[in-house]
Amino acid sequence: MTHDTVITGARVVTASGATQCDIGIRSGQIATLGSELEGHEVIDASGLIALPGGIDSHVHISQPSGPGIEMADDFTTGTRSAACGGNTTILPFCLPEEGQTLREAVTAYRAKAEGKCMTDVSFHLIVKETDPVTLGQDLPALIQAGYTSFKVFMTYAGLALSDRQILDVMAVAKEQNAMVMIHAENEDAIEFLRDQAERAGETGPYHHATTRPVPVEREATHRAISLAEIAGVPLTIVHVSNGEATEEIVRGRQRGMTVFAETCPQYITLTAQDLDRDGFEGAKYVCSPPPRSSDEWPKIWAGIEQGAFDLFSSDHCPFRFNDPAGKDAAGARNTFRNIPNGIPGVETRLPILFSEGVMKGRISLERFAAITATNHARLYGLFPRKGAIMVGADADIALWDPCITKLIQQADLHHGSDYTPWEGFEVTGWPVRTILRGETVMKDGMPIGAPIGTHLEREAPDVLL
Ligand code: URP
Ligand code: ZN
Ligand code: ZN
Repeated sequence: MTHDTVITGARVVTASGATQCDIGIRSGQIATLGSELEGHEVIDASGLIALPGGIDSHVHISQPSGPGIEMADDFTTGTRSAACGGNTTILPFCLPEEGQTLREAVTAYRAKAEGKCMTDVSFHLIVKETDPVTLGQDLPALIQAGYTSFKVFMTYAGLALSDRQILDVMAVAKEQNAMVMIHAENEDAIEFLRDQAERAGETGPYHHATTRPVPVEREATHRAISLAEIAGVPLTIVHVSNGEATEEIVRGRQRGMTVFAETCPQYITLTAQDLDRDGFEGAKYVCSPPPRSSDEWPKIWAGIEQGAFDLFSSDHCPFRFNDPAGKDAAGARNTFRNIPNGIPGVETRLPILFSEGVMKGRISLERFAAITATNHARLYGLFPRKGAIMVGADADIALWDPCITKLIQQADLHHGSDYTPWEGFEVTGWPVRTILRGETVMKDGMPIGAPIGTHLEREAPDVLL
């Protein structure tokens, strides 16, 4: 039987192997992997690499960010940027507004995404309240409805939970078989250091980094894993920035804990010195945890290469730089405390890892596929529909040209932010076509077609990665 589309000539890569074959697509799914396949449309991908469409499982879009602050991406620009960076699915976080229940927040958030997306989307929840309705009714109901992962914070005023609250939330995850994602930084320690810094007049963007030093993250990582051990649940430590926190994760696993870990491009390419750039430029790099010393890069690379990290995500959290609703918020030039945290990166995540990891010989293409797509699908209940080029899966494919060398430039990107932290960063390898359920959504750097992205309900996490 013929196919709707056949991709010929590409080296086809999955987390478990690579081969030269044709990909036959029918009704949006991969129908055949073979040779000399027939199709109504034939895409000649000679010289290209076919990888599973990227899944970025750590993205913030249209998230409430405080009075007068607005995120630079809505679902139109955020998913457009994601698709142009070789992604076919993203998982943003649903954060309730002040006074909103978790269920109300999900309804409102889905409405914001409806009809706007160029990738498929599914939402993690953010649990910031632990009242009986949230933990006894809303959270269990939402997990059962397919929102099978949620994030809790150990930092940020208004979001940070106490240890007792974290344990109570973990108990719900255990009962309902959901994945707990933790932002591990010690809020009390940060507040102590912030007060000290401000008293000393150390108020520039750089002091965002000095007031969130490595021990703040290491201690919280150790505590998060210990709390999960006490509650008897697996957990995912998100956006790990340094070697000592990575050691805590490895130690937790050695004790028999099921701990998953995520890192991001900023922790292998940016440093705290970027926050010390002239004038207010450093604000462009303010994110939490902050970029560290370049001494930490090899430790993060070792974790990527050897398996400490299961996930490589962007933590895309975009604000505009020249904007009072963004980095230049009221009071941000007076103290780093008021600079919105987060950097854009959904479009550059994959090219940076491809270039720095695959092209520089640090990781294989199979490992690239695992930590940019397959593991995300497994951990967050989307596998086998998503995350692999295999028969029966959605035809979510990124075609990569490994011969393109270029400089990352804001002018070429498709996000809503007005800057990229990687301006001028040279990469080799770039996705030249993104295919979502058989439809091309990006070709040669240009978004194509209507926003066909859909919302995905998810299964329970597969904790046996
Ligand atoms: O600075 C960051 N990473 N902002 C996003 C929120 C978070 O903690 O992930
Ligand atoms: Zn976080
Ligand atoms: Zn984040």
